[in-house]
Amino acid sequence: MYFSGTGTTEKIVTRIAETIAEGLTPGKDITVFDFTSPSARKMTHDFGEGDLVVFGVPTYAGRVPNVLLPYIKDGIRADNAIAVPVVMFGNRDFDDSLIELEELLVGDGFKPVAAAAFVGEHAFSYKLAAGRPDELDMKTAVRFAVDAAVKIKTMSITEAVPVRVSGQPLVRPYYTPRDRNGDPIDIRKVKPVTGDECDRCGICAEVCPMGSIPKSDPSRCDGICIKCGACVKKCPLRCKTFTDEKYLYHMHELEEMYARRAEPATFL
Ligand SMILES: Cc1cc2nc3c(=O)[nH]c(=O)nc-3n(C[C@H](O)[C@H](O)[C@H](O)COP(=O)(O)O)c2cc1C
Ligand code: SF4
Ligand code: SF4
Repeated sequence: MYFSGTGTTEKIVTRIAETIAEGLTPGKDITVFDFTSPSARKMTHDFGEGDLVVFGVPTYAGRVPNVLLPYIKDGIRADNAIAVPVVMFGNRDFDDSLIELEELLVGDGFKPVAAAAFVGEHAFSYKLAAGRPDELDMKTAVRFAVDAAVKIKTMSITEAVPVRVSGQPLVRPYYTPRDRNGDPIDIRKVKPVTGDECDRCGICAEVCPMGSIPKSDPSRCDGICIKCGACVKKCPLRCKTFTDEKYLYHMHELEEMYARRAEPATFL
């Protein structure tokens, strides 16, 4: 199961799920629940003993994206099902997103026995963690999944305790970007703009996780924008962009400060 605006969470979660399935029951197919669209988040899911869910979300402001909390808390229930929480992050840090996701899944009734944080190209940028997850990341994902399958095979699920992950159990406040003077940058109301080249193909309206881009006029953004980057990165003509000064300042600062290669973290 995953939420994935720009596709990096989808890539890692799918590979981990396929590899764990192969390790536990060779030849068994996985079932994919993609809850990126608003309609998918209207469906509820019940999992029971014998089910294993690799559950992935991106890190937003160091946490689980807050728009997903009602769905994760109320839309999903589990009774002794295993979970493998996975977060993605865009080369800065995953802060408390993994521990928060794990706590949410425990609240649903899952037993999280293995967890991981992987790096994905930052939704705001084409430079920051460009092209990730890359081949090396995918190898790490496979190694992690093979080890997770071995752990799951050899453990007693009823006695399993949540795997220890990094982060603070009482999660810290959302990460706040700051300007040159150290004042907080608030980009919550910022929305993408659409260039004249738009041919109204409607792809951006289809992929917006908030359903905020009307099909009748995809140049508009009428609802909430969570800056997920889906409409920007999935527009075939690259004509959706963010031009807001504060947004661009934050993006350039991230590109400069976090140019080094961050590595995935796995917990077993
Ligand atoms: C609103 C927003 C906030 C983000 N905050 C962080 C962050 O705090 N730390 C970080 O390293 N990456 C951050 N990112 C980057 C995403 O975690 C990263 O791009 C992730 O790979 C996106 O997953 P997706 O491709 O499945 O949508 C943020 C992205 C967005 C859109
Ligand atoms: S995806 Fe791009 S070209 Fe297509 S409707 Fe949206 S902005 Fe226009
Ligand atoms: S309008 Fe905002 S929320 Fe919708 S796809 Fe674009 S960036 Fe994401």
